[in-house]
Amino acid sequence: MSMAVFLVAIICVFLVLCFCSALLRLNEVRFSKKGLPPGTMGWPVFGETTEFLKQGPSFMKDQRARYGSFFKSHILGCPTIVSMDAELNRYILMNESKGLVPGYPQSMLDILGKCNIAAVHGSTHKYMRGALLSIISPTMIRDQLLPKIDHFMRTHLANWDNKLINIQDKTKEMAFLSSLKQVAGIESSSISGQFMSEFFKLVLGTLSLPIDLPGSNYRRGIQARKNIVSILNQLLEERRAASPETHQDMLGYLMRKDDCRYKLTDEEIIDMIITIIYSGYETVSTTSMMAVKYLHDHPKVLEELRKEHFAVREKKKPDDPINWNDLKSMKFTRAVIFETSRLATIVNGVLRKTTKEMELNGYLIPKGWRIYVYTREINYDPFLYPDPLAFNPWRWLEEKSIESQNCFFIFGGGTRQCPGKELGIAEISTFLHYFVTSYRWEEVGGDKLMKFPRVQAPNGFRIRVSSY
Ligand code: HEM
Repeated sequence: MSMAVFLVAIICVFLVLCFCSALLRLNEVRFSKKGLPPGTMGWPVFGETTEFLKQGPSFMKDQRARYGSFFKSHILGCPTIVSMDAELNRYILMNESKGLVPGYPQSMLDILGKCNIAAVHGSTHKYMRGALLSIISPTMIRDQLLPKIDHFMRTHLANWDNKLINIQDKTKEMAFLSSLKQVAGIESSSISGQFMSEFFKLVLGTLSLPIDLPGSNYRRGIQARKNIVSILNQLLEERRAASPETHQDMLGYLMRKDDCRYKLTDEEIIDMIITIIYSGYETVSTTSMMAVKYLHDHPKVLEELRKEHFAVREKKKPDDPINWNDLKSMKFTRAVIFETSRLATIVNGVLRKTTKEMELNGYLIPKGWRIYVYTREINYDPFLYPDPLAFNPWRWLEEKSIESQNCFFIFGGGTRQCPGKELGIAEISTFLHYFVTSYRWEEVGGDKLMKFPRVQAPNGFRIRVSSY
């Protein structure tokens, strides 16, 4: 009897294996169109998403070892081409007009709105980007934004002495509230609390599958968008009803109709505001958190950074804010920010999709495929960054600056290169200024840090802070 059971079990396992291999084969055949690059497509529907999410960077490296720097896969619900070649990546980012448009997930597009910058192409994109650049230009940072950032950071960082701080939460709040102050001059009011809780739901929604079921993150994200749109609409109405004087904040500039080169509709203004807060949120907060981590682990770097910031403070009275010249003098701080972004790899890459069938790198890519411009590995290239796993900000201060080279993808590249780069650097620099000149800190220890697919501390990242 036991022999029979054993035989049946063997046959079952055999049949399951046959079925699985038939499924895998079927999926390969389905995507085996001539002219496609090498690679595997995994399971029907799920593709290789599980391997990608579980193994992360090593999945990409293994596939590259097998198939080269340009291979096909099926991840996150889409047939995808992964490009890890620096030159090709640059070509893809420079050639949006040839049909290589942003390819962000549907949930992100639904929640960020149809006028958000990633959803618009061609001349509309140029116009929206122009409008954005006009409100975050170097002059605007110098005259309008930096004073707001300075004021905000002082308040945000006050009274951390002798406290146990979850630096992940604090940097998230910081990135959001600092943006809100720049956008609409709003600080700690009832509106900011309500806005913040809706915004956090919106962020979760953009990172979820677009499944519209009660209780799903997607549904909550859509609802959060509706609530945020109504808060912003009300703000627009209130401002229009009040005196004609313009507010000196981003919203004020976007609403200005007379001498403004870029005239946006209310819907465009609202999506622009959401885009600004959203784009700077995770990037600025995670870079700030990771800078705190790396500085804690590298006392020599912290010492050099403190030297730079105390030199700035020495020339000032305690209440004097950071100004443009101070910011420009923070060369080592800038290097710390770049080195943090490189080593932590806050951005793994950017997504594009093809709007028509096209030839790329000698292959024929079908319409509607996603292209993952995967830049992570460039950050660890030993030819560009000798001893790549070392946290060494000094490498950014060498004569031939890596920042101006073609392989610098930390802020993207081509027509959609990050317009908020200098603003983000200004925010993180000001945060670091007040943090390292006011405090010393120790990690509580034991908090887990995840590096992929997003850099985050799943249970928070706690530090014990005391005054310096
Ligand atoms: C350390 C901070 C930051 C990092 C690492 C970063 C990184 C990036 C990257 C990699 C892209 C390219 C996306 C793509 O090609 O699809 C991008 C685009 C963008 N970033 Fe940033 N960013 C940062 C801060 C900011 C800030 C503070 C803002 C606020 C205005 C901002 C606004 C944007 C916008 C609007 C785009 C889309 C541009 C377009 O599509 O034309 N970023 N960013």
